[in-house]
Amino acid sequence: MADPRIVTVTGAAGHIGYALLFRIASGQLFGPDVPVKLNLLEIPQAVHAAEGTAMELDDCAFPLLSGIDIFDDAAKAFSGTNVAYLVGARPRTKGMERADLLEANAGIFGPQGAAINAGAADDVRVLVVGNPANTNAVIAQNAAPDVPADRFTSMMRLDHNRAISQLAHKTGAAVSDIKNVVVWGNHSADQYPDVSYATVAGRPAADLVDDAWLSEEFRPTVAKRGAAIIAARGASSAASAANAAIDHMHSWIHGTPEGEWVTAGVYSDGSHYGVPAGLSFGFPVTSADGEYHVVDGLEISDATRAGIDHNIEALREEYDAVKALGFIK
Ligand code: NAI
Repeated sequence: MADPRIVTVTGAAGHIGYALLFRIASGQLFGPDVPVKLNLLEIPQAVHAAEGTAMELDDCAFPLLSGIDIFDDAAKAFSGTNVAYLVGARPRTKGMERADLLEANAGIFGPQGAAINAGAADDVRVLVVGNPANTNAVIAQNAAPDVPADRFTSMMRLDHNRAISQLAHKTGAAVSDIKNVVVWGNHSADQYPDVSYATVAGRPAADLVDDAWLSEEFRPTVAKRGAAIIAARGASSAASAANAAIDHMHSWIHGTPEGEWVTAGVYSDGSHYGVPAGLSFGFPVTSADGEYHVVDGLEISDATRAGIDHNIEALREEYDAVKALGFIK
């Protein structure tokens, strides 16, 4: 059997961690022949809860799980890491200003990026899930100058999956018949879910749905789904977020099918759709040979252009705020 792949999950004792770890350990990420070693990173107060999760992982007797270690020290948790899921984040609390939220998260994602820079494996791939995910990815990436910038990604896949599901419901098609939706921009209510290029069982989605549905139902439902789930469950999306985190990394490692793309928050090098360099932006991407590539050359309508520009503005504001705080050089 191959050497174990080391997967580090931060916020391991949280809700998403609880839904994610078992799926990784069961082999859903790398496949049935690749053993996995799990590194769980938590804050000291939550280490005991992470130990409980580790006990349950043990009790599953997963054949592919070669070991579990629990840390409250990022330097140790990212040593040799091949895949890093940065899930733990500082939530916004009542009365907290946006700058305070960004600063608190910079204090988490900066040191974690530095620890990845210092000790992770050469092939490390990072997915930032903890919110504000896009900007937290930028912070971590900036603290890791020796790691290629495109190894830092942010999670837009849940938004992508939500868009697929809404379009499937509306058209009565199977989820597997929906191809090439995209959610541009930010994992926030600013995002721009777009079916301009999507097909439903081979037919253009634009022929099957009208503009009123797209603007009054589809886009708001996808963009505000997280809030709707909190209102209904009394807790935020966890299993669907973990599922998207598996999907994102699975596409990255194993590739996307010919002619199909997915949405990922990827590092902008400034050459795609007018998005400034340095942002982590939701783009349509394909994956091959272990690398994500932005799908270029799509015709951009006025509405999509406005949606992209709105997200550039939102993410640039966050970027500038973090820069002003000194976390980006
Ligand atoms: P949670 O509150 O249940 O768990 C978060 C865990 O992170 C806690 O156990 C906490 O102790 C830990 N943590 C906090 N600071 C840490 C640090 N410095 N190092 C290591 N661990 C740390 O939250 P949940 O539901 O698991 O969500 C996690 C994050 O994911 C939140 O920021 C949430 O907003 C975000 N999220 C992102 C989505 C996306 O699509 N990008 C979707 C859903 C949630």
